[in-house]
Amino acid sequence: MQPAFDLSLASSGPLAGSCLLSGDKSLSHRAALFAALAEGESVIDRFLVSGVTHAMLGALAALGVAWRLDGARLTVQGRGLRGFVTPAAPLDCGNSATTIRLLAGALAAAGTPCTLDGSAGLRRRPMGRVTEPLLRMGVPVGTTDGCAPLTLSGRAVSCPLTAIDYTLPVASAQVKSCLILAALAADGVTTLREPGPSRDHTERMLAAMGASIRSAGNTVAVSPLARPLAPLRMTLPGDISSAAFLLVAAALVPGSEVTVRDVGVNPTRTGILDVLSAMGARVTVENPRVIAGEPVGDIRLAAAPLQAVRVAGDTVVRMIDEFPVFAVAACFASGVTEVCDAEELRYKETDRISVLCGELKALGVRLTERRDGFTIEGGTLAGGEADARGDHRLAMSLALAGLAAPSPVTVHHAEILRESFPDFVEQLTRLGATGTVKERS
Ligand code: S3P
Repeated sequence: MQPAFDLSLASSGPLAGSCLLSGDKSLSHRAALFAALAEGESVIDRFLVSGVTHAMLGALAALGVAWRLDGARLTVQGRGLRGFVTPAAPLDCGNSATTIRLLAGALAAAGTPCTLDGSAGLRRRPMGRVTEPLLRMGVPVGTTDGCAPLTLSGRAVSCPLTAIDYTLPVASAQVKSCLILAALAADGVTTLREPGPSRDHTERMLAAMGASIRSAGNTVAVSPLARPLAPLRMTLPGDISSAAFLLVAAALVPGSEVTVRDVGVNPTRTGILDVLSAMGARVTVENPRVIAGEPVGDIRLAAAPLQAVRVAGDTVVRMIDEFPVFAVAACFASGVTEVCDAEELRYKETDRISVLCGELKALGVRLTERRDGFTIEGGTLAGGEADARGDHRLAMSLALAGLAAPSPVTVHHAEILRESFPDFVEQLTRLGATGTVKERS
């Protein structure tokens, strides 16, 4: 086991430079799983090697999928849509909700009997949102009081699932992706309608592999798979959700200018760029290009004084993972920042409204917690000690506060950041920040 640590960040001058990050987390999960469902060998470069993607790879190995990691190159031998072997034990999805929810859809399509489980944190997350529509499709699946462990019973693969027309109660790419995967084995066209623009990586990647998927606005129509999925050959773009930490770091330190190269800028993910611009930071996307169906660019941010903003509606969906880091930026903006329509944050790795507000309060921030968001009074963060509370994004966000706070900030149990951004401290150090990592005894 890797050691636990506390983390403090500081800056003695502007941050500057350019960096290249690991591949996107959502795309890494999808590339590994969809490659397993394809027929033939897939080669995926710039795969994110981290805690949560190891959960997906471990589960695939238990389902009989052969894969190899050489640095950041993942090679997968696809077994086809119905090629999983029945695992000998429950699959451990660790802390990864993407792993458990997407696998549930893939196992439903495959008809493989299986139990899906994970960490204590994962067991607290709602699973009825995937099992309820799967049951309507005829998938024999059960939860444990609405949560993991999930149990799928075996199903004759000759018997297709029932195509459905379904409106998701919340905008969720994990739920949508689960149902798209199940729909590949249905008896007709499945139509999925969402209340907001959740990330569409599944649609883009499966379409590039030969599936028939049509999107219009927030509705997607999926046809049953007519021929095997073609294997993948792609280099993944960098993760905009990880880039967001470096961009906010630059926004917090006057005079900074940083560029993060080769980052995915899919419009369903770029809410944070819109919001940082609205706050006054100078943000540009340079060298726009398309790689394997995904928009990619180099994101440059130059610091400028930050102003408070209001975030609501579809922008919330388009930056759903960036609220912890955005909240820290808001702590250094002038005025009162307001977040509404974001109740979904309560169902993430932690209850990200309550836990974020609690830890920011511990650093002196004046704020108000609401059911669907919060308000933050800029200029009130003093410094002190906070805890990551088992949430990788909270660990990194709180640590960034130390770059601009009047007194140092120490984040306890920051090792959880390895789940999604193992080289977070190294990347910031390269830009000129100072990171102090203290192993916990
Ligand atoms: C993800 C979707 C989002 C996001 C998560 C990754 C994905 O979750 O928060 O980090 O890869 O599909 P929801 O689908 O629950 O919104």
